[in-house]
Formats: sequence, C-alpha cells, structure tokens
Amino acid sequence: MKPIKNLAIIAFVLMSMGSMAQNSKLRSFTPGAIWPDNKGVHINAHGGGLLEFDGAYYWYGEHKIEGKAGNRAMVGVHVYSSNDLYNWKDEGIALAVSENPESLIVKGCIIERPKVIYNAKTKKFVMWFHHELKGMGYSAAKTGLAVADSPTGPFEYIHSVNPNAVQWPLNFTAEQKQMSFPEELKSWSEEWLEAVADGLFIHRDFEKGQMARDMTLFVDEDGKAYHIHASEENLTLHISELNDEYTAFTDRYVAVMPAGHNEAPAIFKKDGKYYLIASGCTGWAPNAARSFVADQIFGPWTSLGNPCRGSEEQVETTFDSQSTYILENPENPGEFIFMADRWAPDNAIDGRYIWLPLEFEDDKPVINWNSEWTLK
Ligand code: DGJ
Repeated sequence: MKPIKNLAIIAFVLMSMGSMAQNSKLRSFTPGAIWPDNKGVHINAHGGGLLEFDGAYYWYGEHKIEGKAGNRAMVGVHVYSSNDLYNWKDEGIALAVSENPESLIVKGCIIERPKVIYNAKTKKFVMWFHHELKGMGYSAAKTGLAVADSPTGPFEYIHSVNPNAVQWPLNFTAEQKQMSFPEELKSWSEEWLEAVADGLFIHRDFEKGQMARDMTLFVDEDGKAYHIHASEENLTLHISELNDEYTAFTDRYVAVMPAGHNEAPAIFKKDGKYYLIASGCTGWAPNAARSFVADQIFGPWTSLGNPCRGSEEQVETTFDSQSTYILENPENPGEFIFMADRWAPDNAIDGRYIWLPLEFEDDKPVINWNSEWTLK
C-alpha cells in the first residue's frame, strides 16, 4: 500500500472512532459514575425530576457550576431529553436566572429541586421549585412557579410564594386551632420540637404563609396535582393540593409526620397506595432514608422504616446520596427507579446521580445497591 493511501485509511479510522465515541450509546445505569450527555459532558441536572411527555423523557435539574459558588443558582434549571432513560440530549437551560438585580430569580439566588408537570387543560408545562432569595440564606423558604409552552422551555418565571396562608391543615384538630405559638421558645430546644409536633409553627406562619423548602410534585390518576414540601423549619412535610391549572395552591393541605424532620421528598403510587421516601436533614451530607405509606394522599401516613438494604454504611447514608424523585417506568408499569443525588458541595458541578431499582419486599419498598443495571 502506498504511504499516502495508508495515511488516508488511518485518518478515516480515527475520524470514525471519534464519531463513534460521540454517538456511542449507553445501555445501562452506572450509579455514581460520570454520566455523559450527547456531547460527552457530565449531566448537569441536580436535585432533579423527570417528566414523560409525548413518548419522550425530560430531566430537569439544578445547573451547578464549579466550586462552592455552584450551590447557588448561577445559570438556572437545565433540561435534557431522552428516549430510553440511559442516553440524554442536552436541551439547554429551561429556566434562566436573571441578570436584573430587581428580579427575584436574580443570579446568585437559590433554586433547588425543580420539578415539571404537564397540564392537559392549559397545555402548559408547569415548573415549581424551592426558591431562596439572594443573600438571605435559606430563610425565605418559598416555592417558585414558572410556566412554558414547550417541555424544553423557555420557562417564564411567574412568582414565588409561601403557600397556604391563613389556612389550617385538613388534619388539624379543633384543639390545635385554639393553641398559639409561644414566641419565647428557644430555637431547637426540646420544647421547640414539642411545639412543632403540636403544630404550633403553623400558627407562627399562619398569616404570611407556610415555609416551603425541599419539594416535589405528584400528579394522581385523576389528574389532580400535589405539591409536597418540607415546611415548619424542615421539621414537618406538607402535602398541598394544586388548582386545576397546577399554578396555585387550593389551600387544601395536610401536615405529615409532624416534627419528623423529613426532607428530599419523593413520591409514587403502586396498587392504589401512596409511598413517600424522604431523607433526614443534614445539609449536603447524606443520612438514612425513610419510607412511608398511605391509602390516601392526604394520609394518614404510616412509617415503613429505612428502605435501603446493604452494608451498615450504605443503609445509614442511602448509598451516599439523598432522594430526589421516583419514576415508574411507563414502558413497564410496576418497575420503579429511585433517583438520588450524591452531592459535592465543595465542587457542586461534580455531584453524581444515584439511580437504583426500587423493588418491593413484604409490601415495603426496598432499594439495593447495583453498580451497573438495566431496566427489565
Ligand atoms: C439538603 C437539601 O435536600 C438540598 O436540596 C439542599 O437544600 C441542601 N440541604 C442545602 O444544605
């Protein structure tokens, strides 16, 4: 073979290898590993949630940047699309932060755990997210709303609220309504926790609306949607009904596991029962997951204990991760994927995704570690 022909063949082979790498398909989940998107870049959608729409999947999550600054919203909410849940195409920024210092979603605020649902009546894609105002730490504890005409956006920011102002939870007793919040109570004292268990923080925030931090959304089989969030200083979960457009709270809500200290809620329904998986509250550090079951979304909810199985460390740290979403595989009903984040607070962009099969044992959800697995 002539040298010139040799070179051409080598160049052709190298080029084909390059394009194969770009197009190489992922055929399994590898929890904790770098997860390259269609451009070969690690997926940047933390604290995320999934939407299935028109035969495609959309993954929305927090876009993080490098370093500790990445824990704040410097870019916005990232969206990816997929046909098989393994391979994800970068669809860009669905909700962008604003450069305008007057905007509540100004660059440098906190936008966490965005979730998107589709409203068939309005044909709008509705995003809710945990929103903290710039420079105010986690004190605002609001939930933000944005809407779009397309699943990939752009989403238009509407506003942020402290929900359910001037409303008692549906599961509040007449006696609880008569109590009042004792202002002299010291934060995080035993009495303070007892006050939360009695529902007194609902009194404290009654006029201005309740706190809403870690959150998720759930659309039931009848089309009704619910907003589930950590409230009352992260001590009690609230489950709130959304209106028919999914854009406002109806003020029908319940307090779940008062003073249970649950956050990172993820919810699913199986055989008519509702299941909730949550974490404890230890900042970015992992802790043990908890699971709950109820016959109705408004409860009463019963504790089912830690759903994780494995070594003591895996069980105590949820495989070094924190829940964010649970997807029932639309192509194989009854198959569930537990999705969680392995946070990297010192270099936020390096956070990893822990997707594991969620199965059932003795009518309880269980999660086992699997370093590489595929859908059934
Ligand atoms: C735990 C929450 O689940 C995260 O979404 C984030 O708010 C961190 N805490 C912040 O410390």
